[in-house]
Amino acid sequence: MTKEPQDNQILTNRQGHPITNNQNIRTVGNRGPGTLENYDFIEKISHFDRERIPERVVHARGAGAHGYFEAYGAVGNEPVSKYTRAKLFQEKGKQTPVFVRFSSVIHGGHSPETLRDPRGFAVKFYTEDGNWDLVGNNLKIFFIRDAMKFPDMIHAFKPDPLTNIQDGERFFDFCASSPEAFHMVTFVYSPWGIPANYRMMQGSGVNTYKWVNSEGEAVLVKYHWEPKQGIKNLTQKEASELQATNFNHATQDLYQAIERGEYPEWELLVQIMSDGEHPELDFDPLDDTKLWPEDKFPWLPVGKMVLNKNPEDYFTEVEQAAFGTGVLVDGLDFSDDKMLQGRTFSYSDTQRYRVGPNYLQLPINAPKKQVATNQRGGQMQYKVDLAPGQNPHINYEPSILGGLKEAVQPGKEYTPFIEGELVRASIDRKSNTKQAGETYRKFEAWEKDDLISNLVADLAPCDERIQKKMIALAEEADGEYGKRLREGLEKAVKSGSSQKPLGNRGGDKAPQEAVQKGH
Ligand code: HEM
Repeated sequence: MTKEPQDNQILTNRQGHPITNNQNIRTVGNRGPGTLENYDFIEKISHFDRERIPERVVHARGAGAHGYFEAYGAVGNEPVSKYTRAKLFQEKGKQTPVFVRFSSVIHGGHSPETLRDPRGFAVKFYTEDGNWDLVGNNLKIFFIRDAMKFPDMIHAFKPDPLTNIQDGERFFDFCASSPEAFHMVTFVYSPWGIPANYRMMQGSGVNTYKWVNSEGEAVLVKYHWEPKQGIKNLTQKEASELQATNFNHATQDLYQAIERGEYPEWELLVQIMSDGEHPELDFDPLDDTKLWPEDKFPWLPVGKMVLNKNPEDYFTEVEQAAFGTGVLVDGLDFSDDKMLQGRTFSYSDTQRYRVGPNYLQLPINAPKKQVATNQRGGQMQYKVDLAPGQNPHINYEPSILGGLKEAVQPGKEYTPFIEGELVRASIDRKSNTKQAGETYRKFEAWEKDDLISNLVADLAPCDERIQKKMIALAEEADGEYGKRLREGLEKAVKSGSSQKPLGNRGGDKAPQEAVQKGH
């Protein structure tokens, strides 16, 4: 017996009209032709035609989850208020809702999650003062230190514009000519370039930010997330084996762990440095290709994050989520880190294009507090940001007829003094390879082995001039590192395994023959 559909489960169109036939378009006779007034069909198909929005230009593949951040009320053994007045950190046990999106960087929306790549670790804190986005990666440093180079870097790393295949030669061509990238290359080509999943990786804000206290005094700060689940990375062999059976493993792992009630947790730690140039260091504190040494700048815990709820809909929440480095709250500030400044323009710019000018009205992006602006209109304006009782005629400020008023400055304003010649110039203390050597020496034997074998596999098919430059950088970083890379490459070139496959990073050869015949 057919069950009558419940009233609240009847299929409608978006005008609220019940759909009585969802199987057939309206036609002249049951063999057609169709008619142009097929409203329900045209609505259905034309919405389907628009189901996708542009992918993120980087970090297209990702997974997300909801949870909360809980403050310790202290930074290490000191009261956190000494350094920042940001409200979310002040009180021990205070919880702030968060949404997190993890991602890989270079390939498209359904690319394998086993690829060698940094991983994105973006956190949106819905604080009582509005949103704070901490847009980080799993690794603590980056390839470049000037935002001017970002589009070139991404072009070199993304697939070749002609073959549409990622090409190690293009990757290393850029990196060999950008020696500041060598430290990051050392991490990315080691097992640290393939985290086992999202739950067992660290996170880091990478760029240098500032904390500002109620006296209007600032310090430099770096943020790090430490997984309570431990850290696990994969060798290339393990990743290839996994990829052969599952290319969604990281998304699946996160989703299933949360469904099982095994909520992943990370501790948030900060490194603090007094504001200034720090001439005593052999690197610039604003250079994001450098680690701040832990012995001089200890990691101080400030809180923890728990992810305990999966998204209800991937597109609504994960795909439309928009994070940006400009999204700070009172007590947090920007440093002069040139990458950070470039990034801060880029995120909201791309989101106005990718999601639309009213992307901040979507529930996943809107703060969980009252929003009252004089912004009006634009595609997909969903509502008007009116304060309760606000005169709706007054969408400007100042006004004596009502309308919105400026807020009171919450603490002493932080007003750094800046002067200098306007120039286009790189920083002085480049120290491009020293920390790469330190990182290499810290790796365990299996990590070193994997690093060398991965570099050899991808460098072997490259132009000799690129190989030479990469070997020189490795030698500069560490004698043993350079020697092993040189010897590995010589051996690979001699054995003929260096033949360039058609632009295929990872060294796999394209299949030579089709083995199956068509009908
Ligand atoms: C995503 C630009 C460096 C982490 C993005 C997006 C852009 C972008 C345009 C896409 C955003 C979207 O469509 O919503 C840049 C520029 C950079 C830079 C111009 C350098 C000048 C970095 C660095 C990190 C990073 C150093 C790590 C700290 C991320 C993450 C995402 C992202 C995690 C994905 C956010 C999400 O899950 O939606 N970046 N980026 N980016 N970027 Fe960057």
